[in-house]
Amino acid sequence: MIQQIQTLQVEVLAHLQTITNESALIEYRNQILGKSGELTTILKWLKDLTPEERWTVGKSANETRDIITDAFEAERTRIKKDLIAQRLSSEQEDMTVPLLREHGSLHPITLVQREVEDTFVRMGFDIYDAMEMTSEYLNFDAVNVPKTHPARDMQDTFWLEGKWNVLATQTSCMQNLIMRNKNTPIRAIIPGRVFRNEDVDATHDNTFYQVEWIVVDKWIGVSHLKFTIETMLSDIFGKKVDIRMRPGYFPFVEPGVEVDFSCPFCDGVGCKICKGSGWIEFMWAGLIHPNVIREGGLDPDIYSGFAFGFGLNRLVMIRYGIPDMRYFMSPDVRFLKQF
Ligand code: PHE
Repeated sequence: MIQQIQTLQVEVLAHLQTITNESALIEYRNQILGKSGELTTILKWLKDLTPEERWTVGKSANETRDIITDAFEAERTRIKKDLIAQRLSSEQEDMTVPLLREHGSLHPITLVQREVEDTFVRMGFDIYDAMEMTSEYLNFDAVNVPKTHPARDMQDTFWLEGKWNVLATQTSCMQNLIMRNKNTPIRAIIPGRVFRNEDVDATHDNTFYQVEWIVVDKWIGVSHLKFTIETMLSDIFGKKVDIRMRPGYFPFVEPGVEVDFSCPFCDGVGCKICKGSGWIEFMWAGLIHPNVIREGGLDPDIYSGFAFGFGLNRLVMIRYGIPDMRYFMSPDVRFLKQF
């Protein structure tokens, strides 16, 4: 009987090697160790033996049962591991294959706006997004635009009904709110979307973006104005940019200036972008008019400040060489995909 048990053990261990899947393994386990399995049947005969025989045969039978049980367990682990290894190699993803799904990207206006904001945040400015609907008071009266100024005409302004009766025509409509709501010193950058009832062409749109910044404190002068403009432009173009100022008129600044910067593409020599002049015109600035400071709730004999604004669309066009402003509002992905 011992012989029979040992033969069974050898057979089982050999057969296990040939099994490659879990269901075959379970079936074979039942055939050997199940209720009426081959080993179980042999063990049942033990009760018919004499006590001495039972002791020796029983010992060997138990040992065999343990060996076989362990062998089944080990085989099961091996089959599972093989299965995992097989799946890992067959289901492997190649991370270097480009995804077919299309991804969106940031609009070029957003990209440049963020760069501008970064420069000012570094200089300690707070960011205020401009309101798109505002009031005639904030957009015009509070910033010293005379009642008779042509900009208030139906030609330029989109009028609305109600308390917020104007679509902002300029980010300057935030100056008064900021002065009234923030303690001095004020260092604010105001990006915003503004609207003017204008004919649309390659360089004009009825909806466009401006960025304005204001500083209000004691002893603020033109040198502060010059420094912040130069820092912003040098950051945007990645090189030192010079500026020059010419007199300009805006009701809310006195003196008012128009600002040009040296062409970063030809370093002032003259090229297509600066139309041969070496300078690019595009900003407006000035020391804030005392009336505006007073209307903002501050004493103009103590406080002074400067305001500065530019058209973000134009800066983005110069920066990326975009020929037509209408691209910005069009949903053409061939344009948007380039950024
Ligand atoms: N708000 C003016 C405009 O839109 C621009 C400006 C801003 C001028 C700040 C001077 C100072 O025309």
